[in-house]
Amino acid sequence: MSKGPIGIFDSGIGGTSIWREINRLLPQESTIYLADSKNAPYGEKSQEEILRLSIKNVEFLISKGCKLIVVACNTATTNAIKELREKYELPFIGIEPAIKTAALNSKSKKIGVLATKGTLSSSLFHSTSISHANGIQIMEQKGTGLVELIENGELNTMKTKALLERYLSHMVKEGIDQLVLGCTHYPYLIPLLTDILPDNVKIIDSGEGVAKQTKNILEKYNINAPPTSKGEFQFFTNKEVSVLEGFIKDAGVPFEVSFLEF
Ligand code: SIN
Repeated sequence: MSKGPIGIFDSGIGGTSIWREINRLLPQESTIYLADSKNAPYGEKSQEEILRLSIKNVEFLISKGCKLIVVACNTATTNAIKELREKYELPFIGIEPAIKTAALNSKSKKIGVLATKGTLSSSLFHSTSISHANGIQIMEQKGTGLVELIENGELNTMKTKALLERYLSHMVKEGIDQLVLGCTHYPYLIPLLTDILPDNVKIIDSGEGVAKQTKNILEKYNINAPPTSKGEFQFFTNKEVSVLEGFIKDAGVPFEVSFLEF
């Protein structure tokens, strides 16, 4: 069992921000990443559709022999992980917005959450917010259009900057001191966000926490690769191979990207 790869899927390239952290912490683990870019964004779809796509992605990763699956997409986690855990026997790791960390760090007691419509409207997001909202004001903002811009490689354009300024100005005026990135695509906007936000606003994403959780679960089930193993990294996309390659080429490891009719 410990010989299988870790499966990772996202609605597109955003989950590569999670793959990076997993690879940094667990370089001995092989991974198979599936980017369902053709169907991005998931954030505007119904829960039923998000579940259907998530099942399709999981079936593919299971057919490749994956031993554990990371749902590297906040929208798929908040809308489908419960059903995936019920349907399949292998362990699943999900990505939930890091509200707890932000709430613990906040001095102004005001935190912002930037996420997709699908994440913000999910019951899992609401129960997480309620359980950490004690004395904390949580300001939510839909990031409509951001996933499409990132998928198009527009990480640092005037258009992306203008949209972010529009989305964040009211939170900044209200005095947030933590901004939670509730979508795995958004860490690719951190350079722009750092320009836009005042210095006292800390940007929080989930990547490192997810990598640690992946390590813990591999150890718990005793399915971790031996430390002497050399990880192999395969990526699949149902859109342009070159776009996905562009997001991982600086990772400094050999990898293979293939087109998948999916
Ligand atoms: C999306 O596909 O809309 C965004 C993915 C995410 O929520 O991480």
